[in-house]
Amino acid sequence: MRVGILTGGGDCPGLNAAIRAAVRKGVNRYGDEFVGFRDGWRGPLDGLTVPLTLDTVRGILPRGGTILGSSRTNPFKDADTAVPRVLAAISELDALIAIGGEDTLGVAARLHAEHGARVVGLPKTIDNDLGATDATFGFDTALQIASDAIDRLHTTAESHHRNLVVEVMGRHAGWIALHAGVAGGADVILIPERPFDIDAVCAAVRRRHERGSYFSIVVAAEGALPVGGMPEADTEVDDFGHVRLGGLGVWLERQIEERTGYETRATVLGHVQRGGTPTAFDRVLATRLGLAAIDAVHDGHFGTMAAIRGTRIELAALHDATSTLRTVPVEDYEQIDALLG
Ligand code: F6P
Repeated sequence: MRVGILTGGGDCPGLNAAIRAAVRKGVNRYGDEFVGFRDGWRGPLDGLTVPLTLDTVRGILPRGGTILGSSRTNPFKDADTAVPRVLAAISELDALIAIGGEDTLGVAARLHAEHGARVVGLPKTIDNDLGATDATFGFDTALQIASDAIDRLHTTAESHHRNLVVEVMGRHAGWIALHAGVAGGADVILIPERPFDIDAVCAAVRRRHERGSYFSIVVAAEGALPVGGMPEADTEVDDFGHVRLGGLGVWLERQIEERTGYETRATVLGHVQRGGTPTAFDRVLATRLGLAAIDAVHDGHFGTMAAIRGTRIELAALHDATSTLRTVPVEDYEQIDALLG
């Protein structure tokens, strides 16, 4: 078979491991030929390809990023002209494996449902928020980076008797903030699923000071919002209509310092969480999903996505993966409430 592969949306550690697994099994087991599309959906749209062979995937398993490049191109933004061009590129192949998160796989789901495109999905995102799978690769690495950073911030916060706000990624879901906050022993954790009361945050910080702990660690997902919303929200949007986030950490720094009178500083971890070498867990998960995706292609299971459920790799409908995001359940957050402060 001739199989295309693309990686779209925000990059994450493990993408190269997934590409390598699909190519190695495709070539070795099935005798496939591969075409790499550059930069997500921009590749099939503009005919941008790179060779994908056993040679070009050699040595990429531990490498962060993606050898194919990525972008947030959305062919449905200009559907009349862009979708036929993408479909034409896919029709020259027997199948396409699209590796992405909600946006990239949302496009794949529509191309399959509305145009019968022979697409199989493979889930990735550091946000860990795709439906129909219990985990996405990239998350474990981001979590490790964020909790290492919190450990480091902890010791300096304590030495200087100051509060430190750590802004982590997480647009709609607070998985990184919640898990890194728990792993790093944070005093306050703010997630998008639960609007926060800035007075309650300041009260928690004050309580710690009164008890003799002259510092607090506040971990905030970039998409968390104060009750009533952010006064200075950004309005610039990408192809999928998402505003560029960031700014919450600095806002919290100002608010906490002004309201409590205690020195407060913010650290924004940003893209550090998406870069560098994947953890062993992410390499293994990405590899297992890559192997399942190429099998799904050969079994003709188009419109599906390789997913992990419990410890098993299964196939899920692409539509189920992208129609509802997997956010942090209220009970998960409430369970850790007793640890905070
Ligand atoms: O891919 C997910 C993500 O890392 C989100 O956590 C974050 O909001 C977004 O991507 C940032 O995207 P970009 O790098 O395009 O600004």
